[in-house]
Amino acid sequence: MARRKKVYEGKAKILYEGPEPGTLVQYFKDDATAFNAEKRAVVEGKGVLNNRLSEFFMAGLNQIGVPTHFIRRINMREQLIRSVEIIPLEVVVRNLAAGSLSKRLGLEEGAALPRPIVEFYYKDDALGDPLVTEEHIIAFGWATQQDLDDMVALALRVNDFLSGTMMAVGIRLVDFKIEIGRVWEGDFQRLVVADEISPDSCRLWDLQTGEKLDKDVFRRDLGNLADAYTEVAKRLGVLPTNVTHAAKPTLIN
Ligand code: TMP
Repeated sequence: MARRKKVYEGKAKILYEGPEPGTLVQYFKDDATAFNAEKRAVVEGKGVLNNRLSEFFMAGLNQIGVPTHFIRRINMREQLIRSVEIIPLEVVVRNLAAGSLSKRLGLEEGAALPRPIVEFYYKDDALGDPLVTEEHIIAFGWATQQDLDDMVALALRVNDFLSGTMMAVGIRLVDFKIEIGRVWEGDFQRLVVADEISPDSCRLWDLQTGEKLDKDVFRRDLGNLADAYTEVAKRLGVLPTNVTHAAKPTLIN
């Protein structure tokens, strides 16, 4: 089979040239990494689940008028996306204290925050993606003040959508990370949600039990990651409920 040209390979995904100019094919791998790839594993079925879940969230955002790079799913592991110019920032929104915020400020995990908090991390693996301020971002030219205002507004709309969607299936959205890209239309740019939205990039806790249903299961050795992601997918109705284990991804089409 003729292979497409690989444009980029990251830790969990590969980008290939798309069928038309301005498009790419995004392929979801089964690789799981944490702590800047110091910890690695192959989790069978993860790529299939994340392809499906990212499709579900991105298509939902598109439907309510929050622009994303997502065009359509192609097959179990691939989706067609718009090619965008990724802004080199990870945008994190937090609803409850957890993870690095808890560590940095000595807050108990699960502690309520007075309001959603938006943070920016500079995307640089060699530096370990450091937290940066708006001053850094503007001074170093990674984004303009207008971009920043638009990014915060976009991130908060994503937070409202994701929080509500997850709440409806008994899951608390603790925090998440998105990446944002520029799409050029002539001299004008639009910012769109890019990369992926999946349990790899969110913290998701069961509302009743507090059980973790996200990548912390892998980061902290709490159990089977594919089982956790399958549970999220089942609740959202993106998998038939009679699928018993993600090790049989052929059941999904
Ligand atoms: P943190 O508490 O480790 O800073 O993570 C905040 C959120 O960002 C959490 O939902 C996990 C997500 N995240 C990523 O998607 N990629 C990363 O590299 C890191 C560190 C966090």
